[in-house]
This record gives sequence, structure tokens and C-alpha cells, in this order.
Amino acid sequence: MDHFLYRDGELFAEDVSVAEIAATVGTPFYLYSSATLLRHFKLFDDALSFGEHLVCFAMKSNSNQAVLKLLGDAGAGMDVVSGGEYARARAAGVSGDKIVFSGVGKTRQEMTDALTGGIRQFNVESEPEMIALNDVALSLGVTAPIAIRVNPDVDAKTHEKIATGKSENKFGIPISRASEVYAMAAAMKGLDVVGIDVHIGSQLVELEPFEEAYKKVRALTEQLRAEGHNIRRLDLGGGLGIPYMRSNEAPPLPVEYGQLIERTLGDLGCEIEIEPGRLISGNAGLMVSKVIYVKSGEDREFLIIDGAMNDLVRPSMYGAHHDIIPLIEPTAGVEQTPYDIVGPVCESGDTFAKGRQMPPLKPDDLIAFRSAGAYGAVMASEYNSRPLIPEVLVQGDQFAVIRQRPSFEEMINRDTIPAWL
Ligand code: LLP
Repeated sequence: MDHFLYRDGELFAEDVSVAEIAATVGTPFYLYSSATLLRHFKLFDDALSFGEHLVCFAMKSNSNQAVLKLLGDAGAGMDVVSGGEYARARAAGVSGDKIVFSGVGKTRQEMTDALTGGIRQFNVESEPEMIALNDVALSLGVTAPIAIRVNPDVDAKTHEKIATGKSENKFGIPISRASEVYAMAAAMKGLDVVGIDVHIGSQLVELEPFEEAYKKVRALTEQLRAEGHNIRRLDLGGGLGIPYMRSNEAPPLPVEYGQLIERTLGDLGCEIEIEPGRLISGNAGLMVSKVIYVKSGEDREFLIIDGAMNDLVRPSMYGAHHDIIPLIEPTAGVEQTPYDIVGPVCESGDTFAKGRQMPPLKPDDLIAFRSAGAYGAVMASEYNSRPLIPEVLVQGDQFAVIRQRPSFEEMINRDTIPAWL
């Protein structure tokens, strides 16, 4: 459920007309609903209420300061994967003891910054990283809390570019070698081994892969405890998929996911952490765009819009589906037309949808891409010198621009011409 609904034939975000925001901000832009973000966070928080837990928002999905502040104030921790994300989380007021640091390639500088600024735990992904972190911690005279990310070799049954839990993926250490690597970690004076971390992929629409992975984590917890490690925290990653509303695909609900966790791991006495991104922010956001031209091709109609692949790259990068709806509600029984919906970027890959059935549209009509709150704005670029599009947050009947659209001058002035030219 989200808070983007038609009211009297017009699309609203909570209590604000989306067309009214478009008139103020200009198109294209991203639009987020506070109520939806909070609702999704709370679903996870409640789903884990059977025990001690922390929901760490995977801020790679959406790292706007206002979004982080909203979720952080509601009690969310953050899952960060770079020094930049760590700095953003801290700047939004999230305390270090609620930040987990994931990622396969943490640099010594990133480790230093997090150890100095405060960190809940590092999710360590390899032996060389463990050695580096131990070094850094010792040189700072502190100990680094760690969980070791294990790769459970399960098939997440998702898009190959976002599956991470198979042995062929670059993530984590093979679970078969966990015992050896934990022993190595325990012998390092700069490290404090607190738990186990696992994340098998993104946009999972079934619970079975989670179940398979979590059962392996359970067995590993028991084994490592028997070997003398004080395993007291389990980080179970993110990855729960979202309903994209296009088919009868019905991904499991957070409450069902919580029940699975309780059933497989609930009696181990461990604190549970999860790192959901997409399910919290995905359906809490739209990308709003305007039709520039309707162009007749030989055998099809093209809807050329002002949003492009640089603004929302998921369709061209993963072949991802986004529902696209007009801001004016189609009247009942209106005849639909198939459109190829494309942006102005000079690549055929700049295609959002082919043959998408839409009510007849004309230049200046507004449309909204649903499910665009996750991996939308954060993956945008300025390709074709198209400035990053603004982000807007709605709360009840108010809205605010939470990232301005840069002017051409601001974009250009980031470059410098050397004196010799
Ligand atoms: N934790 C770790 C370690 C991750 O690598 C990820 C996502 C998450 C949590 C959050 O997963 P989520 O709950 O959002 O599924 N750009 C792609 C998605 C890449 C996901 C990468 N890792 C897309 O647009 O679909």
C-alpha cells in the first residue's frame, strides 16, 4: 500500500496534488511520500518485535538527507556501503552505534572514518579486509566490532545482476570456510567478533531462498558457538521484493518474512538486524515526467518524455518494469493505446517501456513512474548534460524540495579549465 492515489480524477501524493507540485518544481522530478516511507519501516520493525532487533535502512536505495532524517528519527539504523554514505548518515543525525558498514571494498580511510566517528559493526567480506581493519583499529587504539559476511551459496532466483548469494558472486566468504576465518578473526586483537552477516540478493519474491540461507546461518551459529565464539548478533541482509502491480506476482509481506526469521532463528538469543532498502523506499516514490512529443513511427507510436535513462536507469540497465500512470485518472472504459515510452537521450537503450498500454496522451500531459523511490535518484547521472532532477518530499498537505535542480551554470562550474589552456 502506498499514498499515491487518485482523488476526484487527479493523482495525489498524500494530501497534495501531484500536478500542483509539477507546476511549482517543473518536470521531471522525484516525489516521495513520508507516510509510505514510515509505514514500510514500521512493517519491518513490527515484524521483528518478537525480540531485540534493529532495522537498518539500506541507504544505497535512497540516500537523500530528508529521507534519512525521517527514517532515522523513527528509529531506523542505516546500512552504508561507502564513506560517502557513512557521512550522509551521520549528517542526517544517525548515531554511529546504529550504522552498519557493508561492502566488499572498504578502504583504510573509510575504516578510519567509521571507527573515529562511531560504528555499530563492520560486515567484513574477506580475509584481506579483515587484516586491514585489524591494522587500522590497532593503530587507532580501538577494537572494531565485526560480523563476517558468509556466502551461503543459495540461488536467490532474481535478476542475475542483483543476486549475491551464489558462490560465483564476489560477496562474502564461502560458508564452508567460515570456521577457519572466524578463528583467524578471533585471534586478531583489533577485532571484536559479534556476529554473522548474510545477504543473498535483491527483489526476492519468494521466501524459500531466505529460508535456505537462514537455516545455514543457524547451523553456523551453533557451530561457531561450539568453537568458542560469542555469536550474539545476526545481520540477515535486505532483499525482500516489492509488488510492481503489473502481474499477479505477490511477494511475501514483511510480517511473513518476520515469521520466517522467528521460526528459523528466533530461539538463538541473538539480536536480529536486517537491511531492507527497496521495500521501504521503492513504492514510496514516483518519478514525474511530462510528454514532449507524440511521434508516429512506421508501426508504432512513441511517447517522447522529458525524463530519460540518466534520471531513472533501471529499465535500460536491468530491463526493469515500472508501472506508468497518467496524472489525470483515465475515465472508465477509455480506449488504451500501445506506446513505446522513451526519453530524449541519444541511445535506443533510453526506452522505459515498449508497447505499454496507456490512455491517449498528448504533449504537456504528465505521467508518473511508480516504484521509483528506490534505486532511482541515487543511480541518476548527468549523461547528455542533463542536470540531476530534483527530489520532493510530501508530508500530509505540505511538500518541500529536498534536493534542488542545479542550474546549467552550477553543472558547468564543477569543471575547471587548466591555466595552460
Ligand atoms: N544489504 C546489502 C549488503 C545489499 O547489497 C543490498 C542491495 C541491500 C542490503 C538492500 O537490498 P534491497 O532490500 O534494496 O533489495 N540497483 C538495483 C538493486 C541493487 C541492490 C544491491 N544491494 C536495482 O535497481 O534493482
